[in-house]
Amino acid sequence: MPRLEHGRLLTIATAILEGAGAPRTHAAIVADHLVTSNLQGHDSHGILRLSQYCEAIEQKEVDPRARPTVRKESVAGAVLDGQRGFGQVAAREAMVLAMERARLVGVSAVTLSNCYHSGRLSAYSLMASQAGMIGVVMVNAGGGGQSVAPFGGLARRLATNPIAIAVPSGGDYDPVLDVATSMAPEGKIRDYFRRGEPVPDGWIVDAHGFPTRHAKDFYGPPAGALLPWGGPVGHKGYGLALMIDVMAGALSGAGCCGPAQVPPRDGVLLLAIDVEQYTDSEWFRAQVVQLIDHVKSCPPAPGYEEVFVPGELEHREAQKRRRTGIPVDDTTWEEMHSLARRFRLPPEMFDAAHDGWASAAAQIVDHAST
Ligand SMILES: NC(=O)c1ccc[n+]([C@@H]2O[C@H](COP(=O)([O-])OP(=O)(O)OC[C@H]3O[C@@H](n4cnc5c(N)ncnc54)[C@H](O)[C@@H]3O)[C@@H](O)[C@H]2O)c1
Repeated sequence: MPRLEHGRLLTIATAILEGAGAPRTHAAIVADHLVTSNLQGHDSHGILRLSQYCEAIEQKEVDPRARPTVRKESVAGAVLDGQRGFGQVAAREAMVLAMERARLVGVSAVTLSNCYHSGRLSAYSLMASQAGMIGVVMVNAGGGGQSVAPFGGLARRLATNPIAIAVPSGGDYDPVLDVATSMAPEGKIRDYFRRGEPVPDGWIVDAHGFPTRHAKDFYGPPAGALLPWGGPVGHKGYGLALMIDVMAGALSGAGCCGPAQVPPRDGVLLLAIDVEQYTDSEWFRAQVVQLIDHVKSCPPAPGYEEVFVPGELEHREAQKRRRTGIPVDDTTWEEMHSLARRFRLPPEMFDAAHDGWASAAAQIVDHAST
């Protein structure tokens, strides 16, 4: 299994997406999102998605050139249409808009519909926290992607409807909770399936509602289902998923889950709350730091070494992987080479000597966010 410096991975991923038809700015934004997921240890949302995204471009499920348009706006928010483009490009623009409005009126809610996979939601909530705001992001799949059984049920009725909340701390990292409301996102089941390993206990059931650890029972046929987050108290994850379906799906115009089998198109709700307009931001940050220190001072329970704060493990993993590189599984590595051949990309781009491209890609992402 190769291990690559993250900048080189960013170079290769940007070139592949550009080869597939994305303009350089969009390619760099999406590649940056995927590689950051790898850096933070969430490989299921990282560059293994490249082949899926390229396939989606080819199948015209996503328009790689699209930018979101404004359908409606008010003082405190806006309704955006993603124009079938990359979720990462549209959600980033939506959060920039929400932050601008929150700076003016204290709080802003922007919705977005009609876009492809939005990836890891913390990418957008952290944009707000890094600007001194609280960022909240929720996503449904517009009635598609139904893979989760409601609590007490055995068949698929909901998508994995994630939520991310980030708060500014002024420290090395901002606390950010970023979770699916199911026991795991579908991508993690796909990862176990690819590796031929058993799925952790309590995540999925087969088509008859019986617990199973075989990923193939989830995919079928006949298809099983993911369970809502919470195990024996799964009514909590299920209830949250239901409310997110309404807030992200109905409010954005993407639509909620229903009997029709529709292709997934993300519906997104992005909230930004400007802390300074509610309370002294220094005091707020000090409160967050006090809370972090307080929970981390708790003695670890048997079997645990330390208490962590949401976002801390990803921060540590990113620091480590920046030093030691990102492991790329053999299947993904092979797929990347095959995509590069298909798009007639220079084979030298896989060489470390061409790391200069990486800083160019990073500059494009920086430029896009200004
Ligand atoms: N866009 C989509 O359609 C979609 C759908 C589902 C999930 N997702 C993404 O999938 C990703 C993974 O979701 P998941 O449900 O597998 O998350 P997860 O179970 O890996 O949990 C991650 C969250 O829990 C925190 N955490 C983990 N271990 C911790 C510990 N020991 N102590 C304290 N906090 C801890 C992390 O910091 C993070 O905030 C998320 O980024 C989510 O946005 C996206």
